[in-house]
Amino acid sequence: MKGIILAGGSGTRLYPLTKAISKQMLPIYDKPMIYYPLATLMKSNIREILIISTPRDIGSYKELLGDGSRFGISLSYKIQAKPKGIADAFIVGKQFIGKSSVALILGDNVFYGEKLNSILQRVVKRKKGATIFGYGVKDPTHYGVVGFDNKSNVVSIEEKPKNPKSNFAVPGLYFYDNNVISVAENIQPSNRNELEITDVNRVYMEQNKLKVEILEEGISWFDTGTYQGLLNAANFVETIQKEQRIYIACIEEIAYKKGYINKHQLLKLAESMIKTEYGQYLKNILER
Ligand code: G1P
Repeated sequence: MKGIILAGGSGTRLYPLTKAISKQMLPIYDKPMIYYPLATLMKSNIREILIISTPRDIGSYKELLGDGSRFGISLSYKIQAKPKGIADAFIVGKQFIGKSSVALILGDNVFYGEKLNSILQRVVKRKKGATIFGYGVKDPTHYGVVGFDNKSNVVSIEEKPKNPKSNFAVPGLYFYDNNVISVAENIQPSNRNELEITDVNRVYMEQNKLKVEILEEGISWFDTGTYQGLLNAANFVETIQKEQRIYIACIEEIAYKKGYINKHQLLKLAESMIKTEYGQYLKNILER
């Protein structure tokens, strides 16, 4: 399975923070935001990843992450000329996806939880259909909202409904078989003139091919596309890292523990930022 990180959009909901830089480059405590979705894909055992961003910002992502070889993964880049919606990622990424299945993660979605890893590794193995997630929230009206039966079959999916049919928001992480390209090519733009991911998911639902995994018990999800979401996620990361002495979305550590890079390569990454606690943390992994 391949992976796509969508790091585009105009970021207007975070102005003036994002007037001159890309939203997914903003810090979540000690790392650029894009580290978090990248870590989520790596935890799903996905090593071939496409980063989609705007003509203005694509260069900064290349500068930050390069071709991924430092982390034992393969990164490629593609421009989305206009913010045409989340589902446009499958059209922009058509060549990259090829005949593969594909996971899509939004560049501003932060996930955390030990239990999440086993869910991801199970979901990534599914050969047919699509999998989305459900996360219970107080006010789901700002999100995609999913309704489901007791066998985890989706019975309703709506984008930002005024009267939601459930309290389960759909986070920005989706797994699809290869049909997703043609599904995305055949949906129509919504009222806000975007290709909606919810419309893609509805097509899968109507074909009885959409599964939902509920994220609960010890799994946290943050949509960091607002000031409050940004701060909440940063506070969360700081607290967990200080109190549990583990790092969240530490892509260097994940690469090492998965055997994508060796001790020597990890040490090199650590030394490049040895003045920071982050660099020290990486060095300590080798001494454990
Ligand atoms: C998008 C999706 C929505 C999803 C949300 C998750 O909304 O359209 O279905 O629940 O991401 O972050 P947006 O943030 O683009 O308004």
